[in-house]
Amino acid sequence: MADSKASLSIDGNVIAELPIHKGSAGNDVIDIRTLGAAGYFTYDPGFMATASCESAITFIDGDKGILQHRGYAIDSLAKQADYLEVCYILLHGEAPNRTQYDEFKGIINNHTMVHEKLVHFFHGFLPDAHPMAMLCGVVGALSSFYHSDLDIHAPDQRMRSAHRLIAKMPTIAAMAYKYSIGQPFVYPRNDLNYAENFLHMMFSVPAEEYVVSPTVARAMDRIFTLHADHEQNASTSTVRLAGSSGANPYACIAAGVASLWGPAHGGANEACLTMLTEIGSLDRVDEYVAKAKDKSDPFRLMGFGHRVYKNFDPRATVMRDTCHEVLKELGIQDPLLDVAMALEKVALEDSYFIEKKLYPNVDFYSGIILKAIGIPTNMFTVIFAMSRNVGWIAHWDEMLGQPGQKIGRPRQKYTGEINRTFIPLSER
Ligand code: CMC
Repeated sequence: MADSKASLSIDGNVIAELPIHKGSAGNDVIDIRTLGAAGYFTYDPGFMATASCESAITFIDGDKGILQHRGYAIDSLAKQADYLEVCYILLHGEAPNRTQYDEFKGIINNHTMVHEKLVHFFHGFLPDAHPMAMLCGVVGALSSFYHSDLDIHAPDQRMRSAHRLIAKMPTIAAMAYKYSIGQPFVYPRNDLNYAENFLHMMFSVPAEEYVVSPTVARAMDRIFTLHADHEQNASTSTVRLAGSSGANPYACIAAGVASLWGPAHGGANEACLTMLTEIGSLDRVDEYVAKAKDKSDPFRLMGFGHRVYKNFDPRATVMRDTCHEVLKELGIQDPLLDVAMALEKVALEDSYFIEKKLYPNVDFYSGIILKAIGIPTNMFTVIFAMSRNVGWIAHWDEMLGQPGQKIGRPRQKYTGEINRTFIPLSER
């Protein structure tokens, strides 16, 4: 049922009456599905103003700097919930009570190990392979192990694959790291919480027990939470599009990992730290700010700007506080943080950044925290992927549970040749 209607006229002639639908918050949407029959497509490269689906998972108001999962503000979740609670909320729509939480935690714990055959997959990679390349390949390969979960029309099987993915992603991510440094894989420990267990699998060695620092585990958990979901971003839209054809969940999540890898998306935290390292000292900050403003130079300040947030990124505010907490508690004096703070100050006061509404985003600070924790730079995007995995799977599950779900199939404005006569090779 339409809430109101928009009339589309071309040269004064009304060609379509288009229903307008209201969501529970945010912009209303003009339903243009009948427009093709009137001989027109809408044209919106980069999806600047296109709602590709209906969703009840995450709400963002970029102008006001609001991010809510299932109605809960991100800063409350980051400060008062743990990541597994956030996973439950994203998947089920409600905050769990104690029994539901314990049961959920137990299910995830029971799925943390991977099949021993999967271990062999790693040995096919060169030791210097990027861990995102390994993650992408190995997550896709999970589909060959879990045939019992692959009926995407069965809600219980969809939920089981969600549990498996949430549980196994840290195990696979840590295996990618261990493989790249030539250390033995470390099995998960179910007496540890999600963040502690990941750190254990990353940093334990058989020769020595690794004691997880509560400060580090808390910061890690917060990084997971702050990256858990972000509505229809590039990787989530990729997962939805892949899933819309009926592809299996593991293949869809592997597609999400691939999409996240790019430096304009999840690869920005790695690119940001590389940039801070390249700047290196306070006296070079102005030079890099000038480079970012120079239109003839493709350089951009990594960790600045966002398609949706044009005020501030609420995740960045929590991440900034966490960053200072972690460095203080661990007693780390990091010159890169000084460079980051100077960059932040210059950019926030510079008219170029103010006019274009370019604020530090979540990845500006997460890289510094991850570095302080001892995570190598090439694992940053892997950690983003591990965290976003729950968002991807929640959107995939939501989409498949909606009545009338259709394969995603955008249209185009064709600009190529037309009606040419083909001349056989022998005559050309
Ligand atoms: N440094 C310098 N100039 C910038 C930057 C930047 N980081 N970001 C945007 N601009 C300029 C850009 O040159 C353009 O200027 P003009 O209008 O004169 O051509 C204007 O701002 C708008 O940029 P855009 O590329 O049209 O904006 P977008 O919404 O398509 O892109 C973005 C958003 C995040 C891809 C972009 O801001 C960017 O490349 N940022 C750096 C990479 C980054 O930090 N990405 C992480 C995003 S947060 C994590 C996630 O959700 O994945």
